[in-house]
Amino acid sequence: MPESIDTRILAAIRKPNGISGGELAQQLGVSRTAVWARIEELRGLGYEIEAGPHRGYRLIKAPDLLHADDLMAQLGGHRVVGREIAVFQETTSTSDIADRLARDGIKEGMVVFAESQTKGRGRLGRRWHSPARKGLWFTLILRPDMPPSAATRFVIGAAVALSRAVREVTGIQPEIKWPNDLLIRGRKVAGILIEMNAEVEKLNYLLLGIGIDVNLEAGDYPEELKNLATSLRIETRGVVSRPVLAVAVMRELDHVYQSIRAGQFSALAEEWYRQCVTVGGQVSINTGGRILQGRVEAVDDEGALLLRTQHGRIERILGGDVTVIK
Ligand code: BTN
Repeated sequence: MPESIDTRILAAIRKPNGISGGELAQQLGVSRTAVWARIEELRGLGYEIEAGPHRGYRLIKAPDLLHADDLMAQLGGHRVVGREIAVFQETTSTSDIADRLARDGIKEGMVVFAESQTKGRGRLGRRWHSPARKGLWFTLILRPDMPPSAATRFVIGAAVALSRAVREVTGIQPEIKWPNDLLIRGRKVAGILIEMNAEVEKLNYLLLGIGIDVNLEAGDYPEELKNLATSLRIETRGVVSRPVLAVAVMRELDHVYQSIRAGQFSALAEEWYRQCVTVGGQVSINTGGRILQGRVEAVDDEGALLLRTQHGRIERILGGDVTVIK
């Protein structure tokens, strides 16, 4: 998609020395007054932009809001993930919107963000708590040329990408709980919901719905989540920039996607394995209402959990809810 005027302005004023109004106007093929009007609009959104007769325009500080043009400006070109970005102030679920766009044939790589969701959904039919401007709630549309059985690779890849981005931005190394929760100190900080539209042999599209608890404070959680969930703000004892994290996550998702497409899945699986707290532990698993207990011996190539039950049998588990006992 051609870059918008705001994307080009933001990319230029983000450079360490900024850019003069005249040069910017020339690059964009618009008048200096038109550039000034866009700068004023950005200031109105909370962007602090220095402007001086000799210094030109330079970004001093960006607000903690998700602005599609600015996310594009920071991502730069030549990538699949984030090729198009949409930000909604409020929606039912970003995955609902992404599903409609995918059905209508939108290209892969589109990312739909929402500042808040009224019907955010989690795995196993659960509700996903998505308060306004506190987290990153988004869905990525992918169209890999692969069979449906390859879908697990994308969940594993997404968990690795999220983990890398969280480490880059906060310095904290999260743990992964099978199948796709990110934990810090045993509490859930992010989750991934994969939904797909497929035929027997062919994946039409995948929706990777990702929720990251960024700046929630203890009081933002409903009672039932208080002891189970945490946020990056709680863990780092400081506010974490959501746009900075959003850009890091999209970059890492793009790297991971390129690796999977290039047939380099096993290196990702190893990275996932090293961070997975479920393997080797005693767990209790609720799988479709059946409760099983035992020790996790491994995760197989399709991402299924191999559980040695207390009766000594190996059970292969494709989906469920795990509680790590020790
Ligand atoms: C889980 O249960 O761990 C998965 C949670 C996934 C939540 C995200 S938030 C953005 C996207 N839209 C949704 O409705 N759900 C996913």
